[in-house]
Amino acid sequence: MPERNSNSTYNLFYQRIIGTKTLLGRKLLNYKQREIEYIVSYIHSSCNSGLIMDMGCSTGQFTRVLVSEFGESRVHGADISKKSIERCQKRNPKLTFRHIGNGFYRENEGKYQHVLLSHVLEHVDKPARMLKKLQSLLRKDGSLIVSVPQERIRGDSALPENLYNLIRFKFENVHRIKHSIGSLSSLLTETGYLYKNHRYIHAYSKGRNIKCFGNHSLVVCSELAKA
Ligand SMILES: C[S@@+](CC[C@H](N)C(=O)[O-])C[C@H]1O[C@@H](n2cnc3c(N)ncnc32)[C@H](O)[C@@H]1O
Repeated sequence: MPERNSNSTYNLFYQRIIGTKTLLGRKLLNYKQREIEYIVSYIHSSCNSGLIMDMGCSTGQFTRVLVSEFGESRVHGADISKKSIERCQKRNPKLTFRHIGNGFYRENEGKYQHVLLSHVLEHVDKPARMLKKLQSLLRKDGSLIVSVPQERIRGDSALPENLYNLIRFKFENVHRIKHSIGSLSSLLTETGYLYKNHRYIHAYSKGRNIKCFGNHSLVVCSELAKA
């Protein structure tokens, strides 16, 4: 079950803000493009024959990039926002999008080779619980790719979303937890994953793979630890 009221926070307007931010981040400053390119290259470099889930797909922009790379039969998108999934389905009738409601995890047990969790974990109050639940979606040799923003002040990379919340008197930072390479690696280890690789994505240049002020995000790749 989703942890919070998804209708009030992740409504259609919120999803449109995310869609615009992602589009600008891909076409203008390129950081979203560099982020998805790294994710695609990791999937190519690992065992990549199975299904791929874009968890928390929102407007489905990353789902569509993954489809263009790996084919529509191999890529699915899912989100707790029903409206967002309905829009994705309407816009891309040939692609598979699933709403995460009751039964989602049970119905999709052991189905995926790769789960991508891009800019979702920081929205979740109990990240360990979510990472453990995601294990159930993965095959035994499956991998989990997590991308999180690298914020200087908590919430600075979610400025439009937080401003929108302020306008409607909702005083809640959509980013609940700030994740670093140290905290995220420990979290992954504690919840049954094996760290494989990581990459910092700089906000406006190709950048080196180092922690610095100008970073947009951090992508951490992991595999299911063998029982
Ligand atoms: C910031 S958007 C990320 C969009 C896209 N993945 C990206 O990287 O640009 C966060 C999305 O996560 C979804 N979300 C929040 N909590 C979730 C949960 N527990 N499970 C799945 N999706 C969730 C929201 O509805 C929203 O669409």
